[in-house]
Amino acid sequence: MRIPVIAGNWKLFKTIAESLDLVNELKPLVAGNHGVEIVVAPVFTALSSINDAIKGSNISLAAQDCYWEEEGAFTGEVAPKLLKDVGCSHVIIGHSERRQYFGETDLTVNKKTKAAVSAGLKAIVCVGELLAERESEQTFSVIEKQIQGSLAGLAVEDFAHVIIAYEPVWAIGTGKTATDGQAQEVHAFIRKLITRLFNQSVADAVRILYGGSVKPDNVKGLMSQPDIDGALVGGASLKAETFAAIANFNV
Ligand code: 13P
Repeated sequence: MRIPVIAGNWKLFKTIAESLDLVNELKPLVAGNHGVEIVVAPVFTALSSINDAIKGSNISLAAQDCYWEEEGAFTGEVAPKLLKDVGCSHVIIGHSERRQYFGETDLTVNKKTKAAVSAGLKAIVCVGELLAERESEQTFSVIEKQIQGSLAGLAVEDFAHVIIAYEPVWAIGTGKTATDGQAQEVHAFIRKLITRLFNQSVADAVRILYGGSVKPDNVKGLMSQPDIDGALVGGASLKAETFAAIANFNV
């Protein structure tokens, strides 16, 4: 019994006013849907306003990143407890764009994940292979290394606060979704790996989301796969209508 998660990663888009317009339009479109954990991840500067706007709704708030220290001389960083303070219940960690452009490694992802979990946030931990890695048949070894490194040292109990997102880098923002079969294959691999690294009940319970060009017309096929428990949506989450159509895949 894994409750599906549909999360919208707004990346570096939208002012506070534009973010509010989006979420206010979204709220009534998903209001009846209690079978899905619906999450939005605006830019840091919009978190507080969006938190006010979603009060009493079935939408949860995520940040797109965090630091691993609680406080200190770390100019520009934001601690997990401050994300809690502003109303976040979730945080995205190790998105491929952070790995690609901001030097994130499995080690930093691991530190951030541990810090987020111990602050009581749900960490959405991202992994995914590059096109060249897929083409050279390294997908499984890359994913194994990322999962092992990113989740190293977590306790079984921590998994109540861990969500995994598989986002093949070649499918992000390209309109080139992984086929249902390609995604399922990697999700099943990740679940088996979690069984080996942790245990069966952790693996049975952990939600594994797919990300990469998820749209209203492909979400049903993806969600019908046994090991796909939700979606991390970029471009299609920037419009209320398309994100609602994805979040409402079950109704
Ligand atoms: P797109 O849905 O735009 O491909 O982005 C996916 C993503 O990176 C979500 O985190």
